[in-house]
Amino acid sequence: MQTLLPGIRACVFDAYGTLFDVAAAASHCREELGDRWQPLAELWRTKQLQYTWLRSLMGKHEDFWRITGDALDFAMASLTIRDQTLRTRLLELYLNLDAYPEVPQVLRRLRNSGRRTAILSNGSPRMLAAAVEHAGLASLLDAVISVEEAGIFKPHPSVYRLAEKHLGLPASAMSFQSSNAWDAYAAKDCGFRVIWINRFGQAKERLPGEPDAEIADLSAVPDLLAPL
Ligand code: 2OP
Repeated sequence: MQTLLPGIRACVFDAYGTLFDVAAAASHCREELGDRWQPLAELWRTKQLQYTWLRSLMGKHEDFWRITGDALDFAMASLTIRDQTLRTRLLELYLNLDAYPEVPQVLRRLRNSGRRTAILSNGSPRMLAAAVEHAGLASLLDAVISVEEAGIFKPHPSVYRLAEKHLGLPASAMSFQSSNAWDAYAAKDCGFRVIWINRFGQAKERLPGEPDAEIADLSAVPDLLAPL
């Protein structure tokens, strides 16, 4: 049986892929994209993450909105999609991604248990504000923290330290939830208690920082925390 995580006073969530469905933008354009919607969604996301890591290593930071546009351009060019109106629509949809269905109820349960809730994301402040507003989550979150304050992307340790600064708690008193395994491992390596939301049935990473728990969606997060 899973040991309950002790002393968790705040729960910090990754945004893209964890709270918000990153495939939703391309999925809403199925009619225009036909059977290319899924390859586009996958390539867009893969390239977006690669650009965050590459730019961080190169010391050439640009915010996540610019990176999201660049990654979309790469994905569209790779799939020979030249429709600029569609590009505009996909980016607009990215600002208003759908939240996974269990998200509001999970945040509510955590808050009712006396814990604070927050987002810590690569997203720019404008992107995160739009996504939170669209999903109606504003009243369920105590903090929305963007990497822009650190000027570098995850998994740089300075990003995870932002959660300690904003919530005034040591990492050991916070649980971090991410569906991005590399993000989960990096947070664990920075001292958080970590629940890996393995939505996509991926293999374990070969990185420092084994998560404390692994579940398939967010629903069971409140059940994994020891009562305060
Ligand atoms: C996020 O920081 C990694 O995209 C992911 O929201």
